Amino acid sequence: MRILVTGANGLVGKKLVKQLVASGKHEVYATSLKKMQLDGAQTFTSNLQNADINNLVEQLKLEAVVHCAALSSPDACEVDRFVCKKMNIEVTSRIASACRDYGVHLVFLSTDFIFDGIKGNYTEDDAINPISYYGESKMESENLLKTMGIPHAIVRTSLVYGYDEKLSRPNILTRVVQYLSKQQKYRVPTDQIRTPTLAEDLAKGIEAIVDNKKEGLYNISGGDIISVADFASEVAKAFNLDESLLQRVTTKELSEPAPRPLNSSLIIEKASRELNYTPVQIIEGIKIVKSQMNI
Ligand SMILES: NC(=O)c1ccc[n+]([C@@H]2O[C@H](COP(=O)([O-])OP(=O)(O)OC[C@H]3O[C@@H](n4cnc5c(N)ncnc54)[C@H](OP(=O)(O)O)[C@@H]3O)[C@@H](O)[C@H]2O)c1
Repeated sequence: MRILVTGANGLVGKKLVKQLVASGKHEVYATSLKKMQLDGAQTFTSNLQNADINNLVEQLKLEAVVHCAALSSPDACEVDRFVCKKMNIEVTSRIASACRDYGVHLVFLSTDFIFDGIKGNYTEDDAINPISYYGESKMESENLLKTMGIPHAIVRTSLVYGYDEKLSRPNILTRVVQYLSKQQKYRVPTDQIRTPTLAEDLAKGIEAIVDNKKEGLYNISGGDIISVADFASEVAKAFNLDESLLQRVTTKELSEPAPRPLNSSLIIEKASRELNYTPVQIIEGIKIVKSQMNI
C-alpha cells in the first residue's frame, strides 16, 4: 500500500514510519516541517499550512494517509489559539478534502484530552467534552471528518512515551530521565490518571487500522491505568534514578496554561477485539525504552 505519514519527525510519526517500513508491505512517504531522513521512506519537507495537499495525494497515488502532524502541546494550543486552529483544524480539513477527492483512507490522530476527565475509563461510546483548546481543536477535526463522508478512522491515544535519537519534543519518560539524571527536581501530578502508551505499540495499532482499512473510532493506548506521578516513579526506579527528586503535586499546584482532564484513561477493549491489539505492560514498556536509550 502507498501510505503518507504526516508529522513524521514527531515521536508517533517516526515510530509509525519505522513500523510500516519494517513490515515490508508498504511504500512509505513521510512529511515533516523540519528536514529529516528516515530509512526506507521517501521524505518531504513541507509546511502543511500552505502545502498543495491535493497535488501530493495525486502525484504519490496514495492509498492511505496517517495524519500525525499537529500542534500537540496543550499549553501551546491554549496560548496560541490562532496557530492551533490553523494547524489542528484547518490543515486536517484540507487533508480530509484531498482524501475525499481521491478516495484515500484517512487515519487521524486524536487524543484522550477530548474528554473532561470526570468519569475516566473512556470507551469509544462515551460522550466527549474537552476542557482545553487543544482538546477542542481535536474535537472540531473529529466532527468534520464524521460529516465529510470519507473513509476514515480516528485514533485516540494517551500520554505517548518513547525514545529516538532525534526527538522534536520530549515526552514524560525522557523528561523524567533528563531531570533526574542531572539531579534536578521534577514536578509530577498525582491526580492526572492516564493510560500511558509505548510509541511502538501505538504504531502497531495504527498499522493494523491501515492494513484492514478500518473505519470509525479506536482507543489505542496502553492497557494499564496509572497516575502521571506513579508512572514517573516507575521510570525513576527502572533507570536507577533518585525517585525523591520527583515532587508529587496536584494539577492545581502545577498550574499549567491549559486545563488538564483529571482521569482521561482509555479502555482499549475494541482495539484488542478488532485489531488483535496487545500493548505491553508499563514496566515492560519502560524497559524497552531504556534498552533503546542504552543507559
Ligand atoms: N504524544 C502524546 O502523548 C499524544 C497524546 C494524544 C494524542 N497525540 C496526537 O498524536 C499525534 C502525534 O503526536 P506526537 O507526540 O508525535 O507529536 P509531535 O512529536 O509534536 O509531532 C508533531 C509533528 O507535527 C509536525 N508539524 C507541526 N506543525 C507542522 C506544519 N505546519 N507542517 C508540517 N508538519 C508540522 C512537527 O514537525 P517537525 O518536527 O518537523 O517540526 C512534528 O514532528 C498528534 O496529532 C497529537 O496531537 C499525541
